[in-house]
Amino acid sequence: MRKLTRNDLCWCGSGKKYKKCHMESDLLSGAPSGRKIKLPRGVNVKTAVEIEGLKKSGILTRDILDMVGSRIGEGVSTEEINTWVHEHTIKNGAIPAPLNYNGFPKSVCTSINDVICHGIPDKSEILKNGDIINVDVTCILDGYFADASRMYIIGKADKTAQKLVSVTKECLYLAIDQVKPYNDFGVIGQVIEKHALENGFSVVRDYGGHGIGKKFHEEPHVHHYDVGFRGIPMVPGMVFTIEPMINSGRYESKLLGDNWTAVTADGSLSAQWEHTLCVTEKGCEIITE
Ligand code: MF3
Ligand code: CO
Ligand code: CO
Repeated sequence: MRKLTRNDLCWCGSGKKYKKCHMESDLLSGAPSGRKIKLPRGVNVKTAVEIEGLKKSGILTRDILDMVGSRIGEGVSTEEINTWVHEHTIKNGAIPAPLNYNGFPKSVCTSINDVICHGIPDKSEILKNGDIINVDVTCILDGYFADASRMYIIGKADKTAQKLVSVTKECLYLAIDQVKPYNDFGVIGQVIEKHALENGFSVVRDYGGHGIGKKFHEEPHVHHYDVGFRGIPMVPGMVFTIEPMINSGRYESKLLGDNWTAVTADGSLSAQWEHTLCVTEKGCEIITE
């Protein structure tokens, strides 16, 4: 294979010469030399300007989750959480991305206990002692999407629920530790699955992380379970989410009649944590932290 030289077009698809684009960052980050990186169709790297925009959106997303954390508790309805998120987002000049996304009817996803993801807020759904809930917030600020979710434990949950919530968070951070230039995307699912299985849990397969930018969901799809080597390298400037969904029982999911709410097929508990990340020359930056 021919080595990419200064005057070749950059591998990232920008249409710019390599020397005007990724040459310097490749040298700094120790990109494999003599190997021309070809990214699959639809996988892109962001410009510095885009990354600045995404970071601002990430800060707002984080602040909204902090706000939710300061108010959530027993007796609160998921409809109220929706109102808080909607109003805080709008007040800050942003748009809640879930609202009307492929017909989703609310501004945030709220997923309680056996709900894996995409739970729809509802005024009849009241949080009670022992519940675990995922709140998934996505902001569009100046056209840039940032996506993050956290678990909240209501009152005192049982031992299994507590362990599930903490192991799922550990899975996310073990995966984030693997985000560095030229690591293969397949490694993410490998470290998540290992940690989940070691703790007696399973990894949801039907939903994954995703590239993100000026669109909600971009390539690549990010697997949270082990699919082996993907052949897609992490490249500085890539922005994507990692959002493992871990079940206390079996991994299978099923969709409820509303066509959104995904639940565990066996009725076991499910937890999820999500961040949006940017690959940097040195490793990664968590833009929603
Ligand atoms: N925030 C979810 C994700 O992490 C997507 C929610 S789509 C919605 O990708 F329509 F349900 F909001
Ligand atoms: Co996401
Ligand atoms: Co999300």
